[in-house]
Amino acid sequence: MTRAILFVCLGNICRSPSAEAVVRARADGLSLSLDSAGTGDWHVGEPPCPGMVRAAAARGIDLSGLRARQIEPEDFARFDLIIGMDPSNMEDIEALRPPGTSTPARLFTDYAPETGASHIPDAYFTRDYEGALDLIEACAEGLLREIAPR
Ligand code: 4NP
Repeated sequence: MTRAILFVCLGNICRSPSAEAVVRARADGLSLSLDSAGTGDWHVGEPPCPGMVRAAAARGIDLSGLRARQIEPEDFARFDLIIGMDPSNMEDIEALRPPGTSTPARLFTDYAPETGASHIPDAYFTRDYEGALDLIEACAEGLLREIAPR
């Protein structure tokens, strides 16, 4: 069964494209359809921010082909799981949810409780790309452990 997962942040140029690409890079053998989107529309059509592109490339993760888009109502039917990067994303996702849809929406850091992190800090503002990627990698591992067939 293919699982379709949408990663969501605010701008779709820093955290969620990184989450999408990290999970894609580690999803060997799993049939996953992955995408990312922002709750805001400021950066639609733009590539991920250069600092994150560089930091991810140093870890072997290629973000260069990704382009930002905004989450749309159809996403709640298209995807089996929606994953937000921080509690504010979760509030926005729920506010945008079309009535009658029940696609689960979860906070990415819930997949890595061992980190003690409550959210993925926004490296677009903090410039701590390494810290954000460390957490994204830990959450990706946890997500893949949860969805991998046993
Ligand atoms: P992201 O970071 O949500 O991780 O993509 C942001 C990038 C840009 C803006 C906000 C968040 N912005 O307001 O321009």
